[in-house]
Amino acid sequence: MSNDLNDLYAANSNQAERQKVAIVGATGMVGRRLAALLIDHPTFELAMVVGSDGRAGRAYRDVWEAKERALREHYGNFWREYSWPDALRDMPVCALEDLLKSDISVVFSSIPERAGDSEEALLRDGRKVFSNSPYRRFDSDVALVVPEVNGTELGATLLTKNPNCVTSGLILVLAPLHSRYGLREVVVTTYQSLSGRGDAKYATDLVVGNILPLHGSCELTETLIWKEVKKVLGDAFPVSVTCNRTCVQEGHYVEVRVKTNRPVDGVDEVASLFRAFNPLASFKLPTNPVSPIVVLREKGRPRPMQDANHHCGMAVAVGNISTDDEVFDLRLAYVVNNLQRGAAGGVLLNAEVWNAQNVARTQEGRITVTVATSKMES
Ligand SMILES: NC(=O)c1ccc[n+]([C@@H]2O[C@H](COP(=O)([O-])OP(=O)(O)OC[C@H]3O[C@@H](n4cnc5c(N)ncnc54)[C@H](OP(=O)(O)O)[C@@H]3O)[C@@H](O)[C@H]2O)c1
Repeated sequence: MSNDLNDLYAANSNQAERQKVAIVGATGMVGRRLAALLIDHPTFELAMVVGSDGRAGRAYRDVWEAKERALREHYGNFWREYSWPDALRDMPVCALEDLLKSDISVVFSSIPERAGDSEEALLRDGRKVFSNSPYRRFDSDVALVVPEVNGTELGATLLTKNPNCVTSGLILVLAPLHSRYGLREVVVTTYQSLSGRGDAKYATDLVVGNILPLHGSCELTETLIWKEVKKVLGDAFPVSVTCNRTCVQEGHYVEVRVKTNRPVDGVDEVASLFRAFNPLASFKLPTNPVSPIVVLREKGRPRPMQDANHHCGMAVAVGNISTDDEVFDLRLAYVVNNLQRGAAGGVLLNAEVWNAQNVARTQEGRITVTVATSKMES
């Protein structure tokens, strides 16, 4: 199993022409991660980074390093700065106006919900937008996609969303269980990392050496997860969600308990089901993990520090599987990397799958890609 991005990209570098893309919200936590993922990407070429209005004209490097330094100074020495990648040197932070004047037709969005008018401006202008933002995530004319589960919805709309960071992993875990056993009830409890809040900083007394319940807070994470599960997997089973913040930098730890319609034979059966779940296996896509679910049988796993980076953070790590609970048919825990699978890697994989809809396979099974170079009709 390779965790090296360069190995993954080298194995997928058979596209003749790279498509120019931009990031709005590029100066934020998710935007910075996405910019790093796009370096040497075989399908997409990062041509412009856009920040909020006040940032335009500044060197991307200065904003990046100031934000990383501010997080470490705030949280203390346990916080690791995400280093500036020199390959992005000379990139200035641009304004949305610059993007609207350009011919870049594919845009990744990592802006907060309140800045949704930026996405609207791009859509009005016919750009394809892959977005992390909760803005319009639940509108019926907006696709909400976890590509292994409902990737066929990708081509349908100009605006494609990926779910919240917790849900991006939860859908991967629930989808095979639902299809095999039929889910009857689902209970979810999260222990979410601090980077899930982006560059916004919690008061340290709330989260360092502490657990912060998010129930009833302005973050609305419990509601988002609940609604996202319904939108992607349907309304066949009730879902109860409790969210907490914990003093981990990256990687959300999530406990899941389910009741099923059909009996669960045992832990081995569930582990095999997860290992076999790989709907995108036949797609040769740069950000596609070798398998989206990694099963761990060791006691005390998964843990965010050890398990948030399987397959470059694109696989969820599942462990603690048990079928001997007195109340539930099945219990498990998973770790999802909130910045990779849960955000930057999630939009990127969606875009890769969408791009592959323009793919024609040659007789040898190699892939040639027809890149859309003009803006699409809305
Ligand atoms: N962090 C995660 O783990 C995670 C996971 C899944 C989804 N998300 C979602 O992804 C989005 C970005 O999250 P984040 O953690 O990267 O947040 P962040 O660190 O606060 O970054 C927000 C970005 O949006 C820009 N921005 C803020 N207000 C704006 C405005 N009015 N107009 C245009 N741009 C504006 C910021 O620019 P400035 O640099 O000028 O402030 C920054 O680039 C959010 O919608 C969040 O809910 C985050």
